[in-house]
Amino acid sequence: MIRIGIGHDTHRLEAGDTLTIGGVSIPHEKGFVAHSDGDVLLHALIDAVVGALGWGDIGEWFPDTDPQHKGADSKQLTSEVMRKVQTEGWVVGNIDAIIFAQQPKLSIYKEEMEQQLAKLTSIEPGQVNVKAKTGEKVGPVGREEAISAQVAVLMVRE
Ligand code: CDP
Ligand code: ZN
Repeated sequence: MIRIGIGHDTHRLEAGDTLTIGGVSIPHEKGFVAHSDGDVLLHALIDAVVGALGWGDIGEWFPDTDPQHKGADSKQLTSEVMRKVQTEGWVVGNIDAIIFAQQPKLSIYKEEMEQQLAKLTSIEPGQVNVKAKTGEKVGPVGREEAISAQVAVLMVRE
């Protein structure tokens, strides 16, 4: 059986020194305003995976009102979801992702993000593709007020 999922996430930016995207720490003059570490790529990935399997959304798994998730490492949230995925006999077929960020330039980090996503979902880096787009200097992304991510995932069960 195969199932497809889609995920989207946005986090607002404020003055800071580091962005965490796809589990990769990126030095930047802005950081995410978020209850967790604000990792938009991993949050979109989680939503894509749980969406594919009909398991609701990230907010139902990890309520942002829960103090336990304050400053949470999104890699751990992803691993928690993936444990249930594996228990239920599912594997990830492939992941395709887009990060919407005016700045910083993400091309040099894409390979590392693909490796992180592959590791977190127990697949090969060749099954993961990460893309980046600017906001063409318009809208919240273009004005560097926010960074967003979209993820599509194919889930497979033998
Ligand atoms: O050229 P087009 O309008 O389709 O895309 P763009 O948003 O101007 O981005 C051009 C290219 O820059 C992308 O295809 C990415 O390879 C790269 N990019 C990046 O490395 N980091 C970003 N934050 C945004 C885009
Ligand atoms: Zn998020």
